[in-house]
Amino acid sequence: MTDALPPELISESDIRKRVSELAAQISSDYADAGEVVLIGVLKGSFIFLADLSRNLTIPRTIEFIAVSSYGAGSKSGAVRLVMDVRGNIEGRHVLIVEDIVDTGHTLNYLIGMLESHNPASIRTCTLLHKAERAEVEVTIDYVGFNIGDEWVVGYGLDYAEQNRTLPYIGNVQPVD
Ligand code: IMP
Repeated sequence: MTDALPPELISESDIRKRVSELAAQISSDYADAGEVVLIGVLKGSFIFLADLSRNLTIPRTIEFIAVSSYGAGSKSGAVRLVMDVRGNIEGRHVLIVEDIVDTGHTLNYLIGMLESHNPASIRTCTLLHKAERAEVEVTIDYVGFNIGDEWVVGYGLDYAEQNRTLPYIGNVQPVD
């Protein structure tokens, strides 16, 4: 990769607009739920979760979970839990907040793992979805944008830890 900024795929203002639409939908769907526990999947979801949670109008608490990543680049690997949620989610309404769903293995694993904590409900939200890359069937309740088979960075997403804080979503050509 060069030092040049990645070309823009989704602009900052389009992200802002879509995040507020998602938050409005989620706020309406959970209006009678009492409270929702947002579980952000580290590291990629940290910016999305920050913006989404601040746009919600319903009571919410924040948790984080970490799973093994693809490694330094873009190659797929086995899913492994690195950090579990700290709070008790038993009997509570859980919304998993992902940056991106690619093959679906990570989200599928997380749903199964969190179900074992006996929450009242589990729903899923992702900013980005690469539907054509799906390898497992997994229910995604809230999707920000559908994208094609390309590697994207920015707004929390990285390639080899680079470009996470780019304000827009751009694409890069992985070298591995
Ligand atoms: P999955 O298990 O294949 O669905 O992959 C999910 C995880 O892979 C995401 O949480 C990201 O960490 C990573 N990932 C997949 N595609 C991209 C991408 O285009 N950019 C950055 N990270 C990605």
